[in-house]
Amino acid sequence: MLQFKLVLLGDSSVGKSSIVHRFVKDTFDELRESTIGAAFLSQSIKIKDPNSEEDVVIKFEIWDTAGQERYKSLAPMYYRNANAALVVYDVTEADSLVKAQAWVNELKQKVGDENLVIHLVGNKVDLVEEEPSKRVITVEEATKYAADENLLFKEVSAKTGLNIKEVFQTIGEKLYEI
Ligand code: GTP
Ligand code: MG
Repeated sequence: MLQFKLVLLGDSSVGKSSIVHRFVKDTFDELRESTIGAAFLSQSIKIKDPNSEEDVVIKFEIWDTAGQERYKSLAPMYYRNANAALVVYDVTEADSLVKAQAWVNELKQKVGDENLVIHLVGNKVDLVEEEPSKRVITVEEATKYAADENLLFKEVSAKTGLNIKEVFQTIGEKLYEI
């Protein structure tokens, strides 16, 4: 079994804790409380070794950080020796992408991206499926930014579960490669 440390970063209320709970417990809470400090959870997945085709178990040790400004100074403790970072924004909040980009810059500066897998995710796509006018960040804009910065990228919904497993699967496969 391989263990990797993963940290979630992003503005308050973009849905970091909801993504982790969907992944770890397969539940969703409409009224989730804002995280204080940080929360720790773990979950294992199976990936296939691309050469032998054998199953490999990967355990994620997940640090779900608090997005509120007053906790910002704690973040380095959690990303310092992380193997992967999930940087989250909300597709209905313009400001949240700006915050996500600031986290990407900080990670690249302080950790470097040779040994860190960075995955950008645009959460809450269920809201724009229901009401397209709620979308303020287009797939094209985020895809272009992610490509320019060499990040993995997917739009997800913690509410419906869309692409949540896929994101962790992709990160696991990428970490196994390197
Ligand atoms: P902090 O802990 O303050 O940093 O916030 P967070 O990023 O952990 O956000 P959290 O998971 O607490 O979610 C904030 C609110 O958004 C909650 O009311 C969630 O129910 C809601 N939410 C999270 N993900 C989704 C989603 O995919 N779709 C919808 N519609 N709502 C979501
Ligand atoms: Mg939270």
